Amino acid sequence: MDSAVTARLKVCVELTPKPCGVVVFGASGDLAQRKLLPALFSLWARKLIPPSFFVLGCARTAMTTAEFREKVRAAIARRCTARPEECEAFVRRCAYLAGEYFDPAFHATLAKTLAESGAEFGTGGNAVFYLAVPPSLYGALVGRLSAAGLLRQGENGESWRRVVIEKPFGRDLASAAALGREIGRVLAEDQIYRIDHYLGKETVQNVLMLRFANAVFEPLWNRRYVDHVQITVAESIGVEHRAGYFEETGLLRDMFQNHLFMMLSLTAMEPPASFAADNVRNEIVKVLRAVRPFPAEDIRNWIVRGQYAAGEAEGKAAPAYRAEKNVAPDSRIETYVAAKLGIDNWRWKGVPFYLRAGKRLPRRMSEIAIAFKSVPHSIFIPLLPEDLSPNVLVLNVQPEEGVALTIQAKQPGAKLCMGDLTMKFNYRDVFGGEPPEAYERLLLDCMLGDQTLFLREDTIEVAWSLLAPVLDAWSRADEERAGPLYPYRAGTWGPEEADALPGRDGREWRAP
Ligand code: BG6
Repeated sequence: MDSAVTARLKVCVELTPKPCGVVVFGASGDLAQRKLLPALFSLWARKLIPPSFFVLGCARTAMTTAEFREKVRAAIARRCTARPEECEAFVRRCAYLAGEYFDPAFHATLAKTLAESGAEFGTGGNAVFYLAVPPSLYGALVGRLSAAGLLRQGENGESWRRVVIEKPFGRDLASAAALGREIGRVLAEDQIYRIDHYLGKETVQNVLMLRFANAVFEPLWNRRYVDHVQITVAESIGVEHRAGYFEETGLLRDMFQNHLFMMLSLTAMEPPASFAADNVRNEIVKVLRAVRPFPAEDIRNWIVRGQYAAGEAEGKAAPAYRAEKNVAPDSRIETYVAAKLGIDNWRWKGVPFYLRAGKRLPRRMSEIAIAFKSVPHSIFIPLLPEDLSPNVLVLNVQPEEGVALTIQAKQPGAKLCMGDLTMKFNYRDVFGGEPPEAYERLLLDCMLGDQTLFLREDTIEVAWSLLAPVLDAWSRADEERAGPLYPYRAGTWGPEEADALPGRDGREWRAP
């Protein structure tokens, strides 16, 4: 028997959505060009969406449909290799409409264009509106779409209208709740698709398959066997061209409130009654509600923030955050956050969850590591239980999507030599090629009307309320409660002070 991991697929559920049109607001922007258009093309080329389909790009930039199509071709070419005839068949379904988002005349033209394209491509009135625009425009834009009658759905589910929005959903509990109320006035919850693209990543979804489609893991997935959990989202890039956004946001709002909390929820939640959207989303919000609130007077011992100083990135000198273009020279925005969380429920009481995320760390790497307890007793005298490394199950989210389990094994030979042995499988080796982009899965789910991997309003509000004491302490620059903003050298694993989070418990961050 060789040691390669093999996969034999037995069950494959593939659903095709009903014909529909996708209206992309912000079509000339970065997200549309880098992610959305290539993802739509890929779904189309893989025949996962029906041929009765069109894309209508909308933005303020003056551009003709011919010019937009050129951009679509370029966006596709940058992301994938497409057969020319496939690419042209897709591009023929793309059109562009320029206009001011708040001009009633624009919405009247949009309504007319949608009706015409719907008739031409046979989409039966179904439409997705993807708002790839600044979040400050969500409420007003949705209001305009509603006023123009564009969000009205057919009777008895004959046709549907859905709206996709991207995080950040507000910047604290109050603003998120206000946004929720504003869009909730004109849209039903089942028309709103709030994207957290981490939920579209293959390995993040695989947490659920691993836990609930196998009998071996779930019995161990609790305080009896798990010592602690570590979740890391490390990026080697700095703030890049997004300083304007990041100076307003910071890492806690940009990554923790959403991506890290979602990874935590899927790892820690109870088994849902079924994979139906609301069953899964009920469990997600339930486990977040069980997260112990940060102690307002002692934030600094639970959550640590840092900001990168000059250092190195990918072998080259990298500037300090404060020296980046459009960043204030005295900026107090955090580019690194590490936290210790506890979950007060029967399953997890007493098991710490250590979470960390940062920019300008040594490399891009996201993982969820479940560290199991040590053996209770060693029969291998003179080895003590602590000489035998505890088992660790690592779910690698990126860049090497896969799963690895470290066990203790005997080295062949007469002597008693033990060591760590890692059983590892890598998606690329087993399934071939790169896993599909998160946006492909999420766009497809939206067209299918499956909200499982989209955030519900209550989840967003619970996540913000958990961070409320932290945001409060940080905004007051109250170092007594909040702790300082620690500098760390670009290209290192964050400020040393973060080591104290697991360190105080006699643990340490995993060496990646
Ligand atoms: C986004 C954040 O949501 O996620 C970015 O706004 C971050 O700051 C990005 O760089 C990371 O996503 P990924 O898929 O590259 O890990």
